[in-house]
Amino acid sequence: MSDATAKKEERRKFQAIRGTRDLLPPETALWNHVEQTAHQVFSTFGFGEIRQPIFEPTELFARAVGGETDIVSKEMYTFKEGTSDFAPNQGRNLSPEVARQMVSSFKNGEIPNTPGNATAVDRIEQTLKEITIAQERLSPETFDSMVEGYNVLLYRLAYLTGQVGEWVSLRPEATASVCRAYIEHNMQQLPQPVKLYYLGPMFRRERPQKGRYRQFYQIGAEILGGTDAPGIDAEVIEMLMTFFDKVSLQGATLYINSIGHNADNCRRGYVEKLKAALEQVKDKLGPDSQRRIDTNPLRVLDSKLESEQAIIATLPRIADHLCDECKTHYAEVKRQLEVRGVLYQENWRLVRGLDYYMRTTFEITAPGLGSQNAVCGGGRYDGLVELLAGPPTKGIGFAIGEDRLILSLQESGKGQAHQGRDIYIAWMGEKAYATAIRAAKDLRKAGYSVELPPLEQKFGKALGQADKLGAKFALILGENEVSEGLWTLKTLSDGTQQKLTESDLLEFLRQQEKVSS
Ligand code: HAM
Repeated sequence: MSDATAKKEERRKFQAIRGTRDLLPPETALWNHVEQTAHQVFSTFGFGEIRQPIFEPTELFARAVGGETDIVSKEMYTFKEGTSDFAPNQGRNLSPEVARQMVSSFKNGEIPNTPGNATAVDRIEQTLKEITIAQERLSPETFDSMVEGYNVLLYRLAYLTGQVGEWVSLRPEATASVCRAYIEHNMQQLPQPVKLYYLGPMFRRERPQKGRYRQFYQIGAEILGGTDAPGIDAEVIEMLMTFFDKVSLQGATLYINSIGHNADNCRRGYVEKLKAALEQVKDKLGPDSQRRIDTNPLRVLDSKLESEQAIIATLPRIADHLCDECKTHYAEVKRQLEVRGVLYQENWRLVRGLDYYMRTTFEITAPGLGSQNAVCGGGRYDGLVELLAGPPTKGIGFAIGEDRLILSLQESGKGQAHQGRDIYIAWMGEKAYATAIRAAKDLRKAGYSVELPPLEQKFGKALGQADKLGAKFALILGENEVSEGLWTLKTLSDGTQQKLTESDLLEFLRQQEKVSS
């Protein structure tokens, strides 16, 4: 590197990574307000907060959200714990030498002697014997698939001996983690259902645009265990709408659907019919939808491509294929929403982009967000806990996109929070400074936001500064005020002034608050 280039590098200014951003005051006051409201509303519905790691085993998300989904197949931030160069399925890194080490680690007791590991070691030993012969005799494809299988086993053992790290991912969502925690902490032994909520960052490597970030924030809630009574679905949606109402979100629209359950006479039957119908129109569809006919036909219904809309309108609809139980469940969810006074619209195309859903699905859109207008998504996911090796468990929940909620509030003018100081203390002289410090302490204790300048300023300059900071009052402390024991409080909006004793000050401020609220 030339000297000039090195200098330039040293002077590099750093910026937040694409798709991530800093949230700054005064906007963060609105974030806090929204989060406080979530804490309040959710606790009135009996939910408790769960705080979780932001990274988890990659496999947890692959299994829960689904390997074919965009989230898992394209968007996760995945890395390997530890420093080894091994990678699963990059077989040839794992030499027979490593394999022999694994086998001897197992025999020395360094790898736990579980039935699974014993079988893996057996198969590795067997493969080791065969591999030299196979290389000469088998077709390259057969040989490759054999080596691949053997490497997966080796990788697993290498992980158990701490020679390689586990693959981990930054969480793209939190439902899988909540289910993992439910199982890990034996929550099925608690009174059911268990109601949990969370707030925090999620990570998806999506193309950034308005309302779509690579680090974004969700406020979510999950109900695990107990029954799948439609009253639960309706109540969780009612809670959500109560929350949106409390934060004054305008123009929110709730869409609901039922996608049945994954049995022969319900969704599976429908997916087959859908697939057949899609095959008929395949050449009129774009490449993404064409690919999805095989990998995930339901997702074709999600397509936003203008040219596909007319075709999608003619496809078979799930509502016509629900089994009797799912039909009754869905009808009852709608009735219960009506009983609760929750307005909804049905949307037969609402299938959601994650694999774990069954029966009720819902989404809420809000204005002011452009194409990324879903401010919340959720649904029922009975069976997910079981899929993650837990007991059979009912589940339902939702996640609100907090970034989008804030954007929508700001666009509708509901996003202004007062961020100015309550009181700016303008002081002059050493004696006044000591009084100012005491006043600041007492006012802060009473809950007021106070700015105390660390250096003496002329009163004119101090008042200008108070104005810039959006202060409501300036407390003026000069030599006269201190010696007379009468402080001057100036209301900055109208320029009026009062002389107040120290003990009258708090009472006066309280009265002012009552007048303005
Ligand atoms: P989701 O639909 O993938 O569902 O995400 C929920 C919400 O998170 C979306 O409606 C959107 O507001 C927000 N969101 C998603 N991706 C981004 C992004 N890149 N930038 C900004 N906001 C985004 C889930 O995550 C499920 N875990 C919800 C759930 C909970 N289902 C049952 N329980």
